[in-house]
Amino acid sequence: MMPVIAPSILSADFARLGAEIAAVEAAGADWIHFDVMDNHFVPNLTFGPMVLKAVRPHTALPIDVHLMVQPVDALIEGFAAAGADLISVHVEACPHLDRSLQLIRANGKQTGVVLNPSTPAAALDCVLPGVDLVLLMTVNPGFAGQSFIRPVLEKIKTVRRMIDATGKPIRLQIDGGVTPATIGEAAAAGADTFVAGSAIFGAKDYGEAIAALRRGAALGAGAGDLRVAV
Ligand code: DX5
Ligand code: ZN
Repeated sequence: MMPVIAPSILSADFARLGAEIAAVEAAGADWIHFDVMDNHFVPNLTFGPMVLKAVRPHTALPIDVHLMVQPVDALIEGFAAAGADLISVHVEACPHLDRSLQLIRANGKQTGVVLNPSTPAAALDCVLPGVDLVLLMTVNPGFAGQSFIRPVLEKIKTVRRMIDATGKPIRLQIDGGVTPATIGEAAAAGADTFVAGSAIFGAKDYGEAIAALRRGAALGAGAGDLRVAV
């Protein structure tokens, strides 16, 4: 699967959100990552469906909505109508996870399921074959600019094997602390979809920042292939 680089607009200049999104698209981004926080499930507060609707016309790229909210279900229809392409929900925030995923599908959107760093891979067992994406958090959600939590690398390898066993084209995304220095190991472990906030929006040149991430991911994926071959 071709690697996907998804800039997280959490680190963008909110006063110029439409222009920031257009700028990362022009700089070579594959998806736009939209972080929704509620000051309940996570200790921070961001934006809702109205902001998604406002930015939607500013890009042709897929918008990947990461819901860090609890409860979730009542918001799904609103984000779907506002223009999400894929909606991800946390297992920790969904007591009826299957129902939440069914709601996303019923609204015609792709589904993602998210695990916090402390949540074991086994939490995916009963839902994996039906989802389009698994997101493994590589920081505790809530803030941009945190450090990559290295023990999650083992979980990336485990989930890579689980996805391969389904035979389905399920993406394996990571989110948090992704930089040119960390992306290679994550790609070698089996991640193929990379969210990056500060590593892109904190850079002077978004194009260079995205290209550096892409090079790091390709190097890591190559190393992974080599390791499998021996
Ligand atoms: C964390 C968010 C991330 C965040 C990543 O709670 O889900 O998407 O913006 O930011 P960086 O890349 O700076 O760690
Ligand atoms: Zn996110």
